Amino acid sequence: MKREEIVRQSMPLRKIMLVFGTRPEAIKMCPLVKELKARKMFQTVVCVTGQHREMLEQVLEAFHVVPDYNLSVMKKQQDLFDITVGILGKMKEVLQKESPDVVLVHGDTSTAFAAALACFYLQIPVGHVEAGLRTYDMHSPYPEEFNRQAVSIVTQYHFAPTMQARDNLLKEGKEPSKIWVTGNTVIDSLRTTVRKDYVHPELEWAKGSKLIFITAHRRENLGQPMYHMFRAIRRVLEEHPQVKALYPIHMNPAVREAAKKELEDCDRMHIIEPINVIECHNLMARAYLILTDSGGIQEEAPSLGKPVLVMRNTTERPEGIQAGTLKLAGTEEHTIYQNFKELLENKQAYDAMAKANNPYGDGHASKRIADILEQSAQKEFDGRSLS
Ligand code: UD1
Ligand code: UDP
Repeated sequence: MKREEIVRQSMPLRKIMLVFGTRPEAIKMCPLVKELKARKMFQTVVCVTGQHREMLEQVLEAFHVVPDYNLSVMKKQQDLFDITVGILGKMKEVLQKESPDVVLVHGDTSTAFAAALACFYLQIPVGHVEAGLRTYDMHSPYPEEFNRQAVSIVTQYHFAPTMQARDNLLKEGKEPSKIWVTGNTVIDSLRTTVRKDYVHPELEWAKGSKLIFITAHRRENLGQPMYHMFRAIRRVLEEHPQVKALYPIHMNPAVREAAKKELEDCDRMHIIEPINVIECHNLMARAYLILTDSGGIQEEAPSLGKPVLVMRNTTERPEGIQAGTLKLAGTEEHTIYQNFKELLENKQAYDAMAKANNPYGDGHASKRIADILEQSAQKEFDGRSLS
């Protein structure tokens, strides 16, 4: 037997820890958890911070993922200090106990930032899933633009979803050999959730109408911008009797307060509790149009061929705009009103946006990330053993 073969056989398990805490991170990390768990080379540890509670549980249940650790940091009306300080303290203990070879964080939440910072303090390598998204405006989205840039500084493995994200990282001087374009794991998720024969009571209710799907939660939109959004939506609904709207509302009390004030007695709108990811993807797949300030939905809609009015002034997801599926509608009442009305009244404008065009990958991003981690581990081990 050659020396290299002996070395390969004795390579120890590589311990990979995935850390996430909010609904969208879970939707995008669960496919990766499954992929890593299926590989013999890895021991996979899942640590959820519990930045979200019910909304996180919904995703874990849908994907049958059981975490090894839950830091349970969520408090009602938590601020950024609560989340960051809560996670940083608790992560120290978990990281010291588990001593993982690599920690994978996702995107731009406070969970990602605090977990990456904890790894940096303990000198544990970080892999960043969904790396390289940028607006270069520190206040939009807030605090996410800071979070993702800060995570990039301490990352050893940048898993960029698109070439554009890779280019951002290169422009910032990140080492090319540490950046991989993998596609976005959200498409891995979407491949498992959307069903042809899907039925739902809300679809029965909306039968014969144009169904509008709405979500809103961004921290920088809380307060006046959110009131403007809701007023614009309400005006358009009042003027268009053929339209019904479904709004699964975020659990943030500030969002609920604004919705209660502006939308409570709005005809033809159902405001419902957060729905699970399977319901969400299937309802979006059957909607006529989506209005949102969500990041994940901007990535899902192009695959589903659904026009999206993004209720923001900037986006870190220019690929969806270039694909023609997304349009920035701003956060002012009149811009949202005009854009919404136009897509209901101008068939040509609607048709131009309603085309399936997916810039976010082929649904095998998790597999690519796992392959890269395997190859890197092997290379490192070979290097060490043969030196
Ligand atoms: C967080 C992320 C944001 C992401 C969003 C996804 C940060 C700073 N923000 O914002 O990037 O887009 O999640 O939804 O990391 N709540 C519950 N139960 C839950 C979840 C939330 O009651 O399961 C309520 C709590 O009162 C909580 C509030 O919602 O205080 C806000 O949650 P938080 O995680 O602070 O902010 P999000 O707006 O959800
Ligand atoms: N989503 C869900 N249930 C809902 C609303 C949204 O499962 O009631 C999904 C949606 O399909 C997308 C993700 O949650 O995958 C987006 O999460 P969110 O808007 O909370 O956060 P963001 O993507 O803006 O960070």
